[in-house]
Amino acid sequence: MTSAAAPLAAGRFSPDNQAHPTSGGTRPVLEVDHVTKVYPSQPPVTALQDVSFTVTGGELLAIVGPSGSGKSTLLHLMGTLDRPSAGHVRITGVDVASLSDRDLAALRATRIGFVFQQFFLAEHQTVVDNVADGLLYASVPLTQRRARALQALELVGLAERPWARPTQLSGGQRQRVAIARALVGQPAIVLADEPTGNLDQTTGGSILTLFDQLHHQKVTIAVITHDQTIAARMPRRIEMLDGRIVADTTDPGPGEPDGHGQPAPPGQQP
Ligand SMILES: Nc1ncnc2c1ncn2[C@@H]1O[C@H](COP(=O)(O)OP(=O)(O)O)[C@@H](O)[C@H]1O
Ligand SMILES: [Mg+2]
Repeated sequence: MTSAAAPLAAGRFSPDNQAHPTSGGTRPVLEVDHVTKVYPSQPPVTALQDVSFTVTGGELLAIVGPSGSGKSTLLHLMGTLDRPSAGHVRITGVDVASLSDRDLAALRATRIGFVFQQFFLAEHQTVVDNVADGLLYASVPLTQRRARALQALELVGLAERPWARPTQLSGGQRQRVAIARALVGQPAIVLADEPTGNLDQTTGGSILTLFDQLHHQKVTIAVITHDQTIAARMPRRIEMLDGRIVADTTDPGPGEPDGHGQPAPPGQQP
């Protein structure tokens, strides 16, 4: 165990997680600090060059850029699936570089929720158990996992059919299951990689509306997309080009001039 493992373990197993990382505040949940990533191919490729930004609890942001701009590389680093060549990535203040692979897996499982374009649901498992699997790492007993899974399904507007199989659901419903699975462990940040990429425009729009609703509930979400239209409806947009950030724009918040309206109630499915 490394010295950084102690606070991590304490956070991981605290039963009702008073610090509740998902609920916002002003603490940085993710810091990307002068990060460079060079792939050791022939010739080597510099996929990210001196990238820095901070995500604060409760933010909803897009990371947007054309193909080849470095989005997937950045997602891997933010998700602690890869380590930077230079610079630092910190999740809730913990430097990824300070952790062993094992502690990094623990950090990833408990503090980061992933949502992918392809959903990645287990087809042979019920909806509720797909979501409950998001808690496997936390060694929560099955009945409790299912109870929390049902709460997460309610949060995404999909509580009616917990015993259905993913194959019985529409694409939009499947993505809601995947979002519930990402949320069930109350991660510090949800990373969504082209989350509407496999959905028609209307269904995709309803998933973006769900993100708006989760944002009003202070869930921290980063959406990775090549689509400027999707990025345009996020309160913050980090624009990538050729491995660099070329713009980082935040709209005024609620209560500020030209800010957003009142929080919306939890969503219903389309
Ligand atoms: N494993 C790898 N080895 C070498 N080059 C890579 C690898 N992965 C990505 N790249 C290169 O890094 C750059 C950024 O790629 P990527 O992060 O996939 O961008 P995006 O997701 O925005 O399309 C591109 O030039 C790509 O060809
Ligand atoms: Mg990509």
